[in-house]
Amino acid sequence: MYKPSFPKTFPKDFLWGGATAANQVEGAWNVDGKGLTTAEVVKKTTDRKHMSMDDVTTESIKTAVADKTDTLYPKRRGVDAYHHYQEDIKLFAEMGFKVYRFSIAWSRLFPQGDETEPNQAGLAFYDRVIDELHKYHIQPLVTLSHYEMPIGLTLKQNGWASRDTIADFNRFTRTVFTHFKGRVPYYLTFNEINTGTWGFHATGAIDTTLSKHDQLQLRYQALHHQFVASALATKQLHEIDPDAKIGSMLARMQTYPATPNPVDVRAAQLEDDKNLFFTDVQARGEYPEFMNRYFAENGIKLAMAPDDQATLAKYPVDFISFSYYMTTVTKADAAEQVNGNMATGGRNPYLKESDWGWQIDPVGLRITLDELWDRYRKPLFVVENGLGAVDQLTADRHVHDSYRIDYLRQHIQQMKAAVADGVQLMGYTMWGPIDLISFSTSEMSKRYGFIYVDQDDAGKGSLERIKKDSFYWYQKVIKSNGEDLD
Ligand code: BG6
Repeated sequence: MYKPSFPKTFPKDFLWGGATAANQVEGAWNVDGKGLTTAEVVKKTTDRKHMSMDDVTTESIKTAVADKTDTLYPKRRGVDAYHHYQEDIKLFAEMGFKVYRFSIAWSRLFPQGDETEPNQAGLAFYDRVIDELHKYHIQPLVTLSHYEMPIGLTLKQNGWASRDTIADFNRFTRTVFTHFKGRVPYYLTFNEINTGTWGFHATGAIDTTLSKHDQLQLRYQALHHQFVASALATKQLHEIDPDAKIGSMLARMQTYPATPNPVDVRAAQLEDDKNLFFTDVQARGEYPEFMNRYFAENGIKLAMAPDDQATLAKYPVDFISFSYYMTTVTKADAAEQVNGNMATGGRNPYLKESDWGWQIDPVGLRITLDELWDRYRKPLFVVENGLGAVDQLTADRHVHDSYRIDYLRQHIQQMKAAVADGVQLMGYTMWGPIDLISFSTSEMSKRYGFIYVDQDDAGKGSLERIKKDSFYWYQKVIKSNGEDLD
């Protein structure tokens, strides 16, 4: 007789940890030979609830390149992890991290992007970071492209709009895989690859003067180049470092129908498919028919080299990772819109929102995990989830962030339920364990961390690291392997 034997809790080797990105933590934007990146030419926003990339033009980039300060560009300063990494990793170790997700800045290794040999000082920095992690038995999970690329490649060939960028990127990935062989067990190719449909921050391509149609055409073409580069990176890694695993990374946004009306259900299904399309290509190795049809109906024609489809089919990713912050609602005829860091969607009356208007939906995480597992049957990894909030530092230098603990507890409970549903889940890296510069608005006061960093929006502060209440809570969670969530 069939006896289900699903684990009631997290597997023993579950990878608990946290996630950051180079351009949001490192700072040191112009030291040791590093080149300027796409993230460092985007100005901080003046409206903290909305991000817009629409104002990135060739002119604005030239102005930014000429500006040698970080006043308007906070991602240039991050939280100075470049000089504080030992202290930060020690704190991660104190919480019991098993894994730390961080990104390698392409422009530290290849400052303009088209050099043939890497910058040794850049490699040496990541050597030091990885050595430090190993000292505490923390496994590195490296994102190869997290919302940045050398600005030189934008100015030279309009970023990922050019097919030449594939070779530039794969020269970088080959260098990384060869240099760090045997020392990095997990890689991700492109952070939130689906957000390439939203523009510059992910494609490095200036497209603000184009019509809506041409913009979409250019973005999907850039994404095709990323798909091919990702598949070729997978091939490289498997050849160079066969024990290491590589995953895709999607900003997963589950879409619910606004009503049981079948036309709303169908509209939601289509939205969902358009989100999952990216993982379909990277995990199943082919463009799904529903997207081929969407392209045909919208006059989008992708230029592909003769081998591209075979390359995608031959080198799918080993596992699927995703960020999870919110869900949205779709109605066949538009619903009221709510915020995300770039996405907007319909309001769900059953959910609360964060201070930035992101709809908080822990149960949606279980739904997402169950559905992704059903669709792909590949190991899953939650590589981002967290709450951006304004924290108060008390006079005696504490941060009582019970709201963050509540948020994380509810999401971890739902992950646990999904594991009991039979989902193969590798780990959980919350975003971002130490306060960092917000991706969407470049604010400092939108804080996610277990660790408070003394720095304000203008970049003033001692950069002192202070443990919040959630620091001690997460320490207990990891120690009990997700059993003690109180
Ligand atoms: C994800 C990104 O979209 O969301 C991160 O991968 C980002 O880089 C995170 O920081 C939170 O977004 P924000 O805009 O609040 O920093």
